[in-house]
Amino acid sequence: MPNIAREELKPEESEQLLLLPGGHPPLWNHMDSTGPVGLQQREGAPGCSQEGLPCPSDSSELVLACLQQFKVTETQLRQIQASLLCSMEHALGGQASPASSVRMLPTYVGSTPHGTEQGDFVVLELGATGASLRVLWVTLVGNEGHRMEPRSQEFVIPPEVMLGPGQQLFDFAARCLSEFLDAIPMDKKGLQLGFSFSFPCHQTGLDRSTLISWTKGFRCSGVEGHDVVQLLRDAIKRQGAYSIDVVAVVNDTVGTMMGCEPGFGPCEVGLVVDTGTNACYMEEARHVAVLDEDRGRVCVSVEWGSFSDDGVLGPVLTTFDHALDQESLNPGAQRFEKMIGGLYLGELVRLVLAHLAQQGVLFDGCTSSALLTHGSILLEHVAEMEDPLAGAARVHAILQDLGLSVGASDAELVQYVCATVLTRAARLCAAALAAVLSRLRHSRELQMLQIAVATGGRVFERHPSFLSILQETVKLLAPECDVSFIPSVDGGGRGVAMVTAVAARLAAHRRLLEETLAPFRLNHEQLAVVQAQMREAMVKGLRGEASSLRMLPTYVRATPDGTERGDFLALDLGGTNFRVLLVCVTAGGVKITSQVYSIPEYVAQGSGQQLFDHIVDCIVDFQQKQGLSGQSLPLGFTFSFPCRQLGLDQGILLNWTKGFNASDCEGQDVVCLLREAIRRRQAVELNVVAIVNDTVGTMMSCGYEDPRCEVGLIVGTGTNACYMEELRNVAAVAGDSGHMCINMEWGAFGDDGSLDLLRTCFDANVDQASINPGKQSFEKMISGMYLGEIVRHILLHLTSLGVLFRGQQTQRLQTRDIFKTKFLSEIESDSLALRQVRAILEDLGLPLTSDDALMVLEVCQAVSQRAAQLCGAGVAAVVEKIRENRGLEELTVSVGVDGTLYKLHPHFSSLVAATVRKLAPRCVVTFLQSEDGSGKGAALVTAVACRLAQTACV
Ligand code: G6P
Ligand code: BGC
Ligand code: BGC
Repeated sequence: MPNIAREELKPEESEQLLLLPGGHPPLWNHMDSTGPVGLQQREGAPGCSQEGLPCPSDSSELVLACLQQFKVTETQLRQIQASLLCSMEHALGGQASPASSVRMLPTYVGSTPHGTEQGDFVVLELGATGASLRVLWVTLVGNEGHRMEPRSQEFVIPPEVMLGPGQQLFDFAARCLSEFLDAIPMDKKGLQLGFSFSFPCHQTGLDRSTLISWTKGFRCSGVEGHDVVQLLRDAIKRQGAYSIDVVAVVNDTVGTMMGCEPGFGPCEVGLVVDTGTNACYMEEARHVAVLDEDRGRVCVSVEWGSFSDDGVLGPVLTTFDHALDQESLNPGAQRFEKMIGGLYLGELVRLVLAHLAQQGVLFDGCTSSALLTHGSILLEHVAEMEDPLAGAARVHAILQDLGLSVGASDAELVQYVCATVLTRAARLCAAALAAVLSRLRHSRELQMLQIAVATGGRVFERHPSFLSILQETVKLLAPECDVSFIPSVDGGGRGVAMVTAVAARLAAHRRLLEETLAPFRLNHEQLAVVQAQMREAMVKGLRGEASSLRMLPTYVRATPDGTERGDFLALDLGGTNFRVLLVCVTAGGVKITSQVYSIPEYVAQGSGQQLFDHIVDCIVDFQQKQGLSGQSLPLGFTFSFPCRQLGLDQGILLNWTKGFNASDCEGQDVVCLLREAIRRRQAVELNVVAIVNDTVGTMMSCGYEDPRCEVGLIVGTGTNACYMEELRNVAAVAGDSGHMCINMEWGAFGDDGSLDLLRTCFDANVDQASINPGKQSFEKMISGMYLGEIVRHILLHLTSLGVLFRGQQTQRLQTRDIFKTKFLSEIESDSLALRQVRAILEDLGLPLTSDDALMVLEVCQAVSQRAAQLCGAGVAAVVEKIRENRGLEELTVSVGVDGTLYKLHPHFSSLVAATVRKLAPRCVVTFLQSEDGSGKGAALVTAVACRLAQTACV
């Protein structure tokens, strides 16, 4: 018979097949014509197979047929390797993967330990070693310190706890924790715990992990689909013995990888074969579709236990595997694990022995109830029986304990069975590992991969041959990988402590970040106070009483009614750009031609004469380009600074804002300053008809399309608002009927200290460094000229706390205005958030980690959110004032808006609208983004003035 078998096998296959652990001579060598040495003929006894025992030649056939099933050829191993690799890349790409594939779960561990971790940590391990959990006290001493042996204690988990309600399991864990800590003579304040939870979980953070499904011997109810960290926290709270902060949850493979013996590592693969089996490895973050990362690496838990591609596994699965699966807690699941994991090896051996006994090949064809009992042969038994030296004696002892009488040849055959089952497990594990190594080599675009694999688990500890077969087979399947296998110390406990230390550091950083950003998180009550304070300041300002809101009459009494006509020149000064516009208002609509000119800082902060001469130069240049030279068109001047207007064409500049500081202008009528400059530039005729604020221009421009537009809002370099107030409420202007547009100059709101409760030290830094300290408080918390600076000051603060950039302050970040407000809009764009952060910050020469990127994003979000909410509170105050002015139950009104920040920031406008809805629920407010800027508005104000002037003449 041996000949037949041999014929079937290709030469190389036969060689491979016969490699059995423990120096067992090749199976066939022991199979002479009578089968395994000593397989003698025997008669039937109780519990024994009734029909006569098979003849020796038959029995060896039977043994061969039985054990041949466990043969896995090199071809099959390569097929498994290839299919597993394919399944890994499928899952990494985020494509919906069939249930039978590996899961590829990101673990939020982004770097292998850099040895600086220090401190005392508690580690709770659940699930790695089957029916027991372990608690450890690990002291990390960083690079310098001498390594401290961790203290640990193992607790056996009663079966009813492994299969009962989840709360019972977590309460059991919390009790073990307390019992362990009671015995620890250490200071137990501020305990930080790392939770090693060895089951497939979707992690959404280092301390947030949802159980996908139980594996191995566990089946507790009410846990799958839940955050296991929260369940543990709740149990520890119920226990109430210790306040323990659970800061990290990791898969046991990650603990194993991170616990790689210093000096050998870093290990970048963690391989566990204990009751279950799995591996993790450091994948390029950009390859993990679910993560929004394009740099760095992230540890991925493969969860290869669930690999069961019928195409390649089908032919390898034996009848014993199917039997085992059917009797398992999770039939159909974890098929790959059930051929490798220590929880199943003993059972596979038992099923084979029972089968061979029932075939009369073993134990004289006698079985025992113990042999027929599920789980009666454990991993330890297989390890002992398979041991080439002491194994035979142990076989007798173990099987006698199972009520079996063991014949001489039985022991050897039993050892073969153990070795065969274990060999297959090691080779399948090797195929899986080879797939991971190929993936690593591929994702790093390497010809040769040199890698350290940390191994952990009792199959490694108890079956020395497992590792040697694994190594050999990996060499065969992945020859381009030079792999060193490093046993993990403390079974991964130290590794979990490392992750916990990193998590604790990140958690501490997160707390510092939250503390820093908390003052920026305004709640409804605070915003309602701002709204009320603004309302009060509006009323006082209108009455001419002391108020930080000047509430300046603009002499614009009506919004356009569409009858305006003519060509007008318009100037738009005060925003990001200075523009000169030709606005043609016809029955068919408004046609605008404009040109942007720059106002260099030295002009904006030079002399007033220089500034206005520069303005006239631009006008002349524009007229020449538009062929308007010599024409004296009515001109509307959008001048976006606080002016006390005495009439439509008279505006006394009260003070500069937004980085302008030209001399000899404040207190002057800027229309006069313009006219003087025109005069200085002979041969230019210009008819300055109106001066308007950009808020008024914006309201008019939008009002031309939507007559309900009675509010103008600017959120750009600066911020401000205007609205149509009842003339009777405007003390500074005579008359009780009709309306007048009021320029609120809300940028100065809070200059009287009414916003001090909300002002942060960062606002104070920005104000101190501005050219108008103590002024424009509200503006400095909202507008584009300042948000970038607020963010920069916060980043400097967080860097000084060591929270960001590893505490390294860089010259660049100390540079004023280096962090542009437009960065906030780019960084907060939903599409490429983290990558955008990275690109921007690297341009600023800042060395950052992915955690840094996330924190910078949160800082930007907090600063812009506060700005939008404050702006919303201001708008709510205005529309509520209009509603109450008109004694309306409900007001429908439109707000014309302009300004780069409002227009470009991805969330600003919606946050403003949401805040207004909450604070002014009886106002239906529509925000209209002005398309043509306020230049058009200035032209329309001019047109109205000209129309009114004409009717006055008629
Ligand atoms: C538009 C208006 C200007 C206004 C500016 C504010 O451009 O036409 O009158 O001053 O917006 O926004 P900005 O972001 O440019 O400061
Ligand atoms: C679990 C893995 C774990 C492995 C080794 C498997 O059953 O699904 O999460 O890493 O066992 O303990
Ligand atoms: C000015 C306002 C202007 C606002 C928006 C503020 O700095 O004081 O007049 O409307 O900026 O440009």
